[in-house]
Amino acid sequence: MQDIVILTGAGVSAESGLGTFRDTDGLWTKYDLAEVATPEGFARDPQLVHDFYNARRANARGAVPNAAHDALARLERAHAGRVLIVTQNVDDLHERAGSQAVWHMHGTLAGALCAACGHRWEAPPLMAPDDPCPACQRPTTRPDVVWFGEFPYRMEEIADRLAACDLFVSIGTSGSVYPAAGFVAEAAARGARTVELNLEPSSGGALFDEARHGLASEIVPAFVDEVLAPR
Ligand code: OAD
Repeated sequence: MQDIVILTGAGVSAESGLGTFRDTDGLWTKYDLAEVATPEGFARDPQLVHDFYNARRANARGAVPNAAHDALARLERAHAGRVLIVTQNVDDLHERAGSQAVWHMHGTLAGALCAACGHRWEAPPLMAPDDPCPACQRPTTRPDVVWFGEFPYRMEEIADRLAACDLFVSIGTSGSVYPAAGFVAEAAARGARTVELNLEPSSGGALFDEARHGLASEIVPAFVDEVLAPR
């Protein structure tokens, strides 16, 4: 029974209309990463940062899962072993497609976090710099997303699952942001088969045992069929 870990990135949600970061029309060609995705940027201009994530929250709410999300949910339902999705995405399209084991290592647009007391709650559609924390009442609320310079969520548990998996699949990620970009090497070092599914070879593409290139909506369902096919 294969134990499967799947890493997803912005490319899996691209065909749902959510922008990627580093493609030619990606978010980081329109916004300055240092201004909207770092603690220092938030300290300088919290309104700008809330505006950025409010817009992304609205886009994500209007998006629907595509055939790649659906196929991964089907894999979890039909596969006899464990299937874990570790996503760098802050949208909830995996959950809305029906996947249950989804770990958001870069946080989620659905969450609000108090920078002062650490309390977490459901984010309203629009967040603002002077929103009070429901627990400590201080106006120190922020989106519950992980910014550059911060430590991603659940890293110890992810390392355990990478060490235990038989198959590691990376989908729709450019492989340019660590620690996620290092997962393929961690899984390979413990003997897992590693497969990349992406529009084009990622920067770490040579580290994978195999690769399939194309649209996620096409190559992910085909790969799931292969994994589920009786041997
Ligand atoms: P990137 O924008 O860096 O990479 C997206 C990848 O998806 C690229 O390699 C594209 O070729 C591929 N792609 C685009 N459309 C696709 C499609 N329809 N089917 C399959 N693949 C497609 O996004 P990420 O790798 O997710 O972090 O970026 C990683 C992190 O960098 C993000 O979580 C975010 C960002 O800065 C933070 O904000 C902390």
